[in-house]
Amino acid sequence: MRVLVTGGAGFIGSHFVKRLVRGGHDVVVLDKLTYAGNPANLAGVEHELVVGDIADPEAVARAGAGCDAIVNFAAETHVDRSILGPKEFVHTDVLGTMCLLELARETGARYVQVSTDEVYGDLEAGCRAREDDPLRPSSPYSAAKAGGDLQVLAYVRTYGVNASITRGANTYGANQYPEKLVPLFVTNALEGQPLPVYGDGKQVREWLHAEDHCAGIELVLHEGAPGEIYNAGGEDHENLEVTYRILELTGADPSLIRHVEDRAGHDRRYAVDDAKLRALGWRPRHSFGETGLPETVDWYRENRAWWEPIKSGAYRAYYEEQYASRLKG
Ligand code: NAD
Ligand code: TYD
Repeated sequence: MRVLVTGGAGFIGSHFVKRLVRGGHDVVVLDKLTYAGNPANLAGVEHELVVGDIADPEAVARAGAGCDAIVNFAAETHVDRSILGPKEFVHTDVLGTMCLLELARETGARYVQVSTDEVYGDLEAGCRAREDDPLRPSSPYSAAKAGGDLQVLAYVRTYGVNASITRGANTYGANQYPEKLVPLFVTNALEGQPLPVYGDGKQVREWLHAEDHCAGIELVLHEGAPGEIYNAGGEDHENLEVTYRILELTGADPSLIRHVEDRAGHDRRYAVDDAKLRALGWRPRHSFGETGLPETVDWYRENRAWWEPIKSGAYRAYYEEQYASRLKG
């Protein structure tokens, strides 16, 4: 297959490109190379790179020519940044999705939308979201992703586009930009910097290894049915548990933990029922606490040359805006 992977220079997208190339597929990456996109994530991997915006029909047509399938990872992805400014999130996650669906409509390409468990909003203890549950997004990020999902479902119903949606849990692994919980806390711990825990730290997330997430997405690409949605879950842990495990693995001191002002609209708990994806044969291979997180910490320890340059320049300005007053307060 010749596959257009949008957002392929980002975290999960780059793992997916490597997986497709290993499987013998031809890959075209369309990526705007925002702050989160990094061609170094694809160093040594055979692919064609088109630098452009998924919301630009001309760039989409150029990159997508001759492709049998489109897998859309391109998105603005960080909840905290969406709270600071939602506009780019609507541009990419909603309008960009629509432009890619237009390409699928014109060419007949198979389409997979990489979405998130966050579209269900937070769930009471004991509940797990199923694919047909209502969407109750809480943040500008999850609202934009939900908007993208609804575009996909409309294109299936109205134009007969051959599209499926995946909704994955919080993903971790190598090459994740150091703004989300795991890479931020691992790199801060390695630098002896504070770990800013929002509120009481008892929020629960499901943790899914990037390679397991990509295995699920590829399965849906080949075996998923049009108009169907597939959840991909992970291992449930409270944020504080994750934080203490990171301290243990990095050898950093627990005094680095700072409980800071909570995130606005913070979802307490995410959890999905992923029986539908398992029925296609999906089984995650990584255990978060035993192998996945230790290997990820080792990767950041051994690849300082990847993340140290990122944590300067524009990143510092973002970090100041997000954390300076919280850490002082
Ligand atoms: P990321 O932020 O690491 O990478 C996003 C990539 O998209 C970057 O390479 C960026 O340059 C590119 N991009 C952004 N706007 C673009 C545009 N307008 N046109 C073209 N390219 C653009 O993201 P990630 O964490 O790898 O997430 C990938 C996908 O998976 C996203 O759709 C996200 O919503 C979804 N997802 C992520 C997680 C997670 O925990 N990270 C969990 C579930 C689902
Ligand atoms: P994050 O990695 O941003 O993913 P999401 O909000 O999409 O689930 O955050 C994971 C959890 O960690 C979430 O409950 C917020 C919390 N968190 C902190 O406590 N401190 C931080 O500095 C960050 C980035 C996240």
